[in-house]
Formats: sequence, C-alpha cells, structure tokens
Amino acid sequence: MTGSTHWWHDAVGYMVYLPSFADTDGDGFGDLAGVTLHLDHLADLGVNLLWVTPFYPSPMADFGYDVADYCAVDPRFGDLDTFDHLLAEAHARGIRVIIDLVPNHTSRQHPWFQAALADPGGPYHDYYLWRDPAADSGPPNNWVSFFGGRTWTLEPGTGQYYLHLFLAEQPDLNWRNPAVLDEFDTILRFWLERGIDGFRIDAAQTLIKDADLRSNPQIRRWESTAARGEQWDSFEHVHDILQPETHAIFQRWQGICQEYDAFLVGETYVLDPQRFGDLLQDEGLHAGFWFGPMQIQWQAAQIRQTLGAPLAHAGTRARVAWLASSQDEPRAPTRFGGGELGRRRAFTFVTLLFCLPGLPFLYQGEELGLVDGIVPPECRADPVGADVTLSRDGCRTPMPWRPGPAFGFSDSEDTWLPDGGRTDSDTASVQRASTDSWFARYRSLVRFRSREPELRSAALEWLSVDSGNVVAFRRGTLVIMANVGDDPLEVPIDGELVFTTTPLIVDAHRPSSAGATHVVLPGSEALVIRTT
Ligand code: NOJ
Repeated sequence: MTGSTHWWHDAVGYMVYLPSFADTDGDGFGDLAGVTLHLDHLADLGVNLLWVTPFYPSPMADFGYDVADYCAVDPRFGDLDTFDHLLAEAHARGIRVIIDLVPNHTSRQHPWFQAALADPGGPYHDYYLWRDPAADSGPPNNWVSFFGGRTWTLEPGTGQYYLHLFLAEQPDLNWRNPAVLDEFDTILRFWLERGIDGFRIDAAQTLIKDADLRSNPQIRRWESTAARGEQWDSFEHVHDILQPETHAIFQRWQGICQEYDAFLVGETYVLDPQRFGDLLQDEGLHAGFWFGPMQIQWQAAQIRQTLGAPLAHAGTRARVAWLASSQDEPRAPTRFGGGELGRRRAFTFVTLLFCLPGLPFLYQGEELGLVDGIVPPECRADPVGADVTLSRDGCRTPMPWRPGPAFGFSDSEDTWLPDGGRTDSDTASVQRASTDSWFARYRSLVRFRSREPELRSAALEWLSVDSGNVVAFRRGTLVIMANVGDDPLEVPIDGELVFTTTPLIVDAHRPSSAGATHVVLPGSEALVIRTT
C-alpha cells in the first residue's frame, strides 16, 4: 500500500460525541437527527470526515460504549432510517462517515452475555473471559481496570469471575474464540452494506489478552483508592493489552474494508511511541489515534517530542490520527491554561497538528474555542472519576448552538448534562456571523490544510532554531513555526506568509534594518511561510 493514495489521505475529521451534539426529540439527549440538522455547520467548517460515537441500543452505563446490540439504533438516538438519512445527507455534502465499533466489550445486557449467564455450559459462555476464583477466593490475576479497581467481577450465579478492562457493566469479549471473530465480520458487513465509510475501533489495543491471563509485573504499590491513572501505572502492562495476535484481527477487518474502500482507524491508546508504532504495523489499521498531546504541558520540548515521536515510529504505511481534544480528556484550551490564553495556545497547537503528515481531527466545540464546561457536583454523570479532575463530564457538556435556552442544544430544560456555563459568544451562530471568531479561525485552518497539497504529502523535516521556545518544521516549500514562549519573536520572512494564527502578525509586517522582511510573532502564536 505504500505510495498508493486513498480518500482518507485527504481527509480532515470531526468527532461528534452524540449525547451532547444536538437533541431534536426533546429528551435532553443528543440524537442522529441532530447531527443531520447541523451538517451544514460541518460543511461550512470544511471537514470531510465525520466520526459519530456509538448510537447502538445501550443501557448507557458508559453512554453508549456498553453495546447491547451492534446492528440497531437506540431509540434515544433514532432508528435505522434516521441513520440512513444522516448518511445520505452527509454524503450529499461530500462528508464521509465512520462509526464507532466497540469490540473489546459488550454491555452486560447484550444477549450474548445474558446467554452466557443463563447457560454456563453453552456456546456463549466462551464469548467472554471467565475464570475460577484464586486460591484465596479473590480475583484470578492482578489486572486493574482503565477506570480504576480490579478488572474482575464475581458472578454469583456461575461462581466465576468475568473480566472487564473498563466498567463491570462492560464485560470483555474473548477474541481468541473464532465465533466472536465471525460475529464481528457480520457486524462490519452490516454497516458497510448500509454505506458507511469505515470504523473507529474503540480500545483497539486491548482486544486480545494473554492466553493464560498471567498477572502483570507490579512496579509499585497499588492502592484501590488512588486515581485511576495511578492505579494503572502501578503495573507494567505486558499481558493485558497490546498482544501481537491483535494484528491478525485488524488484518482480517482491513480485508473486509478493502471490498468497500472503507477506512479503519484505531483508538490506539498507548503512550509509548514505540508500542504505538508497533500497533500500526502489518497491514492492519489504516491509522491510529495518538494520545500524547493530551498529556503534555505548554512547553516547546514536550510539544516537539509528542509531535515527532509517533511519526518516527508509525512507519510509512499507516497514518497518525491527531486529536488535541476528545470526549475523554479535558479540552485543549483548558489543559493549556484556560481562558483566552488557553484558547490561543490550543489553536496554535492544532495549527501544528494540521500541518503535520497524518489525519487531523477536531472534537465538537473545538472550532468554537470551548474550554471545559462547568458541571456542578449534583449534575455529574460520568461513572468514572468521582472528583471533578478525573470526571469526563467537563469536556462533554452540550454544544452551544445559539443564544437562548440550553443554548439551542435541546428544547428540554432537563438535559443529560448541564449547559456548562456557556455564554452567547461561545455559540456557533454568534461565531459563524463574525469574521473575528474562533470558528472563523478554525475554518481558515481547515481550508488551509485542504488546499495545500504539501501539507498532506510532503516529507517532514524538523528545523532547529535558535530559541528554545520555538517549534518549527518544514513540509516541502512550507515552513511552519510556533512561538511557544511568552515574548514576541522576530521572524525573518524568506517568502510569502500564507497562514497565521492571529491577524496582528500581518499588520506587523515590516522591513528590518538589514532590508530583509520580518514579522513579529507574538507568544503562543504560529505562522506558515511559503519559502522561495
Ligand atoms: C474509549 C472511549 O473513548 C471512552 O469514552 C470509553 O469509555 C472507553 N473507550 C470504553 O469503551
């Protein structure tokens, strides 16, 4: 595949977190018709690839990531007709649609799990991972959940523990059972036949577990009351995730996707760039999301490292999918300091992402410069993280569409999460009417990415510059530079200024004493020069 071109090589993605995007039926919960309603917003922004989070029937223990039927639509979100309509309307606007496939786990309510409970000797039992209690009656090994606590729950009816790398309501499937593979072939084809353009694979790094479910080496003391990240980091994850046999599953799915010219992007959540790169080898996933950006401070060396390392390890075949914000982490403007400074830094950071090789995605509301919404304790919904720093509610508050009740998200006063304390100037309608808004800036960035072929195909060359606060690289004739410091930087312009994160830079265009043209690049801003 090296050297060949696919439609996703030119894509700019947009992620819709469905419960919070737009509610059209007044139940306070976003729905598929709400996405259709706002497709023109996406078309105007200029994105051409839409990822919609799960809409399958679900008890909503993890807001759709606990699937009870992979081939249907939860009535809260719509029905299959609503889905087909969304797909047709998106395609009519030149926007492809990928859907979230959640293969690591089902809901406890899925008929497979219910059948496994009802008949422990029957065929569905082996769809999941069951083990007898250890000698002390405790869990069979020392694994801990991504969400904190042990990965094992004792099922009184069967006397065995079942494995769940996430919530107890999300039992893990046994991907060493060929019947599970067959089931998912059917599921993939069900949606591909409906015309979707691919899948985002949830928790792609976790599907296969060690055949003997051996305990992980423990690095430090594990406290069941510690923050979930600390619990996770108490172990070396050699047996629970990233097992090499997972590649065969991705290859099988790529074979199916090839028949439909469909795209496979993994939620490849591993922060070691080498292991991230390994996941993308062997003709499996076409791309993988890199989550390094979610972990860094606003600091030049960290930015260079988190942008460069995944590219260095991903190889030439698969793409790095870039996200600065998501449904699972505080939004980038919040992480980078909050307020206007955080917003400016986030836009500069996203500008860097959009100028790199790979596939950039925006998370809903990012184009409005949104910081995390405010969620009072009594309104919290996320089952993960009891305290506000760990909860995912803040990045999930509803999209503010226009001034007025619920900021146009819903006709209901009782929305599943509160409005987050947005203001009128946060809303899409106000920002779209202005040429000086975050929406206008993000739109110009998306369009810049889309019209510059070198940003999609030219080789990347990192540039060393004098100031430690500069992140700079070249893509063909384009030089991209971000001033990560606070002080303004004088930059010689050897060519044409083709993109800036702030219009002030253009006004500052002036000849230097030596006769060369310079601009003053303020702190936390970026520019792109087409060199001659
Ligand atoms: C990753 C998803 O992004 C997250 O929201 C979800 O809770 C977990 N996978 C479990 O499915």
